[in-house]
Amino acid sequence: MIIFNSVEKLKNHLDNLRNNHKTIGFAPTMGALHQGHISLISIAKEQCDLVVCSIFVNPTQFDDSVDLKKYPRTLEADLELLKVANCDILFAPEIPEIYSEKELNDKKNHIEDKTWTCGKTIDFGLLDKVMEGAHRPGHFNGVAQVVSKLFRIVNPNKAFFGQKDYQQLSIIKSMVKQLEMPIEIITCPIIREADGLAMSSRNRRLTEEERKEVPSISKLLFFIKEIYQTHPINQLKEVVANYYAKESMIHVEYFEIVDSETLLSITDFKNSKSAVACIAVKLNSVRLIDNVILY
Ligand code: PAF
Repeated sequence: MIIFNSVEKLKNHLDNLRNNHKTIGFAPTMGALHQGHISLISIAKEQCDLVVCSIFVNPTQFDDSVDLKKYPRTLEADLELLKVANCDILFAPEIPEIYSEKELNDKKNHIEDKTWTCGKTIDFGLLDKVMEGAHRPGHFNGVAQVVSKLFRIVNPNKAFFGQKDYQQLSIIKSMVKQLEMPIEIITCPIIREADGLAMSSRNRRLTEEERKEVPSISKLLFFIKEIYQTHPINQLKEVVANYYAKESMIHVEYFEIVDSETLLSITDFKNSKSAVACIAVKLNSVRLIDNVILY
């Protein structure tokens, strides 16, 4: 595996590969890699001649500075995993390679600042206002900002993202369409621990006691999938609300059943061609999300 920290050197290397008609797959990450990330690399390897993974903890997508500080950084272990997965190229830039001082200082205003779109107007409509967008103001603007920059650097044929971040995928698909980027976005299945917990870099911040509680999140989602055809949506919501009693260490931030395309809450399954149940919970300072496609 070749490791690049410099944008220019990576671009030159990838230009040479492209001139030799190699197709490039890209899996952007923030490190603290787990088997969910590795599955993105494996799927990318099946579909492309070579695979680039990036590790960059993106400051502009954190609405909470404590969360940014506490985000796990495990580069040595990440390198081992990537080598075993046969990843071809790792791009691990420092912040100044990606952002100018001005962009970082503008961070407070970055919800309004769309300079990263290179002059093109971009509007996510309600996609970035609901669920995660409502609870983490500016988060998706930061995600779109860094992903568009990474896409311009790597210029991949295909980019691979996990379904666990369902709303992020919708945002990135919308961004690629609006910026007319010729990149195919591939949705990869959620990878779960044996007890059903969706893999996430944040899981390692759970205490032993919290870790024992969290498999209930996916169990609840799977239960909803089992019963949704025979229950109205308001009853499904009640099931979730009642499931975690007040004294539970799991606090539900939201549980929504949304249209898979628009991400708007649905009140009747008849009105949507496809639907997904999404949940976000908090255990002390650790925030976890999960989802299940109902149909
Ligand atoms: O999903 C993530 O890890 C991040 O949001 C991403 C897509 C790498 C952008 O920083």
